[in-house]
Amino acid sequence: NWVLKDFIETEIQRIKNVVGDKKVILGLSGGVDSSVAAVLIHRAIGDQLTCIFVDTGLLRKDEGKKVMENYGKHFHMNIKMVDASERFLTNLKGIDEPEAKRKSIGRDFVAVFDEESKKFDDASFLAQGTIYPDVIESQSVKGPSATIKSHHNVGGLPEDMKLQLLEPLRELFKDEVRKVGVELGIPRELVYRHPFPGPGLGIRVLGEVDAEKVRILQEADQIFIDELYAHNLYDEVSQAFVVLLPVKSVGVMGDERTYEYTAVVRSANTIDFMTATWSKLPYEFLELVSNRIINEVKGINRVAYDISSKPPATIEWE
Ligand code: XMP
Repeated sequence: NWVLKDFIETEIQRIKNVVGDKKVILGLSGGVDSSVAAVLIHRAIGDQLTCIFVDTGLLRKDEGKKVMENYGKHFHMNIKMVDASERFLTNLKGIDEPEAKRKSIGRDFVAVFDEESKKFDDASFLAQGTIYPDVIESQSVKGPSATIKSHHNVGGLPEDMKLQLLEPLRELFKDEVRKVGVELGIPRELVYRHPFPGPGLGIRVLGEVDAEKVRILQEADQIFIDELYAHNLYDEVSQAFVVLLPVKSVGVMGDERTYEYTAVVRSANTIDFMTATWSKLPYEFLELVSNRIINEVKGINRVAYDISSKPPATIEWE
């Protein structure tokens, strides 16, 4: 695709010209946009780029490890990994209201990123994976949906930041960003991942969050996602994940009575994420996922499937 190749070449040249011999930092989340921005900028200026990856403790299973392996080892990028999970979890203690949880996580994220970026006091640029729809969204007056959930993408800019912004994807739509990613050699699987909310598993462990619940959810979610890939269903649905309810129910395992948490499997099909239908996944597939979760994840003894459309439900549970 010559248009894409042309975009990449032009952008690399532009980044080189703008940055010169200065240093750049970038908040790498593992998501598509920040990853593509990072690889593109790395192509242009190599080691002058340092990525900061904040492990909130609320990410998908082994996410930090995978990011280090792929972008650190494979792409040879400088990545500063910050394990801030304790801080996030500590500040979430006692909070069960969804918006309050979002605020706590968002606040911690900005604070941690700010602290870390200040350590790179020789950096002149802050790179971000801002894409065209983000530009439009931030310009538009907040619509009624803004009051339903605060959709802040964690990582807002601290006010006193003296860094110049570098946003090489500002003019691209999501599908173009993905194509650029593939062209740059990022594995297809990473480029075509489902969206993951900024507050992460913090809003998928319903109610109060603790480390044990996050671990249980990570295990269950991993099984569901693995099976979607194994059955070639991952690309057929728009967003799929597991939610952990703070509800225990009675079950039986062997001769033992169990009293454990309930997990909900959620999968949605949508074009714009404003409206969505639940995915009509095959019964046999759901049965397999349910069996695996209950048998393999200690702490869950019941699985339900969410058959709610948006509206009136939302895709996430919080
Ligand atoms: P809902 O649950 O509102 O979600 O139907 C629509 C899409 O937005 C994502 N989402 C978020 N993304 N920060 C984010 O970055 C958030 O606080 C947030 N809340 C929901 C959700 O995963 C879905 O893709």
